[in-house]
Amino acid sequence: MGILEWATSPLGQRVPIHIAWFLMWVALMVGLVFLVVHAIYVRYFAGHKEFAADPDAEAVAQLPARIPRHSLAARLFHWIMAAAMFVLLFTAFLPKVGVRFNWVTYHWVAGAVLTLSILFHIVHATVYLDFWSIWPDRADLEDTRKRLQRFLGESTALPRKFAKYPLENKLYHGAVILAGLAVIATGICMMFRVRTLFFPRNPYLFSDMTWGMMYVLHGLAGVSLITLTMVHVYFAIRPEKLPITASMIVGSMSREFYLKEHDTERWVIKPNPERGLADGD
Ligand code: HEM
Repeated sequence: MGILEWATSPLGQRVPIHIAWFLMWVALMVGLVFLVVHAIYVRYFAGHKEFAADPDAEAVAQLPARIPRHSLAARLFHWIMAAAMFVLLFTAFLPKVGVRFNWVTYHWVAGAVLTLSILFHIVHATVYLDFWSIWPDRADLEDTRKRLQRFLGESTALPRKFAKYPLENKLYHGAVILAGLAVIATGICMMFRVRTLFFPRNPYLFSDMTWGMMYVLHGLAGVSLITLTMVHVYFAIRPEKLPITASMIVGSMSREFYLKEHDTERWVIKPNPERGLADGD
């Protein structure tokens, strides 16, 4: 049993047509195993998080009671993108387990919404947000080395608290970028194979081999988004992460939570009452 399904083109060439659908069960199982192993680890084995002392007592005294975390625009983007992602996942994979409906139309419409929301996010994050806050920096690597050494029982200095996003979140965001851009780039091309509002159907745009590879890439990135979405939702509903999830609804988090996890020098909250819950703070 291979991981691709093949067919013979009108020219007699053997071409891949898409991934073998058992891969969606593999993605589901990988997600489930991750959740169970992580939950057991946190419940029975993980010690208390320990960080190096936060040096700046003066900055702490000036912090507001609620720390702005996500602007209204960033929250609207997040929930529109999430809704599109769920519609895409269900319309893609329910038909593969025998649920019959006109999935292609719902799917490409959700695909168009996802594409537009991501375009908005790229411009918004580049122009208005702190673009570099989601990319790993030198401090992340140094602190991760310290965390790993302490995990292995070696003695080393305590790591600093996190910037706005811990390294794990940054790596997750990187994986979603890769999978997301792959489904979007291939999905836009695949819209030429079906009837949409955007352009006339043209199934002859690419050779059979190129179409096949495109469907394979779309499928592989698609199933990886099953695992990535499961992991994301799991962390969102873990009790210790609920204040972060709530901040994606109300926009802010408590000063106590901010001080517990975040370094005031790496994620600087500027005291500026006029700006209110500003982007990128
Ligand atoms: C979570 C993201 C996505 C997942 C999991 C996903 C998954 C899938 C799957 C499994 C198929 C069936 C392919 C096959 O039969 O080989 C499919 C088809 C399709 N997808 Fe996606 N997709 C996603 C995002 C997108 C996006 C963003 C677009 C458009 C921009 C898109 C457009 C299409 C189109 C037009 C088809 C139909 C192709 C056809 O029937 O010939 N998809 N998708």
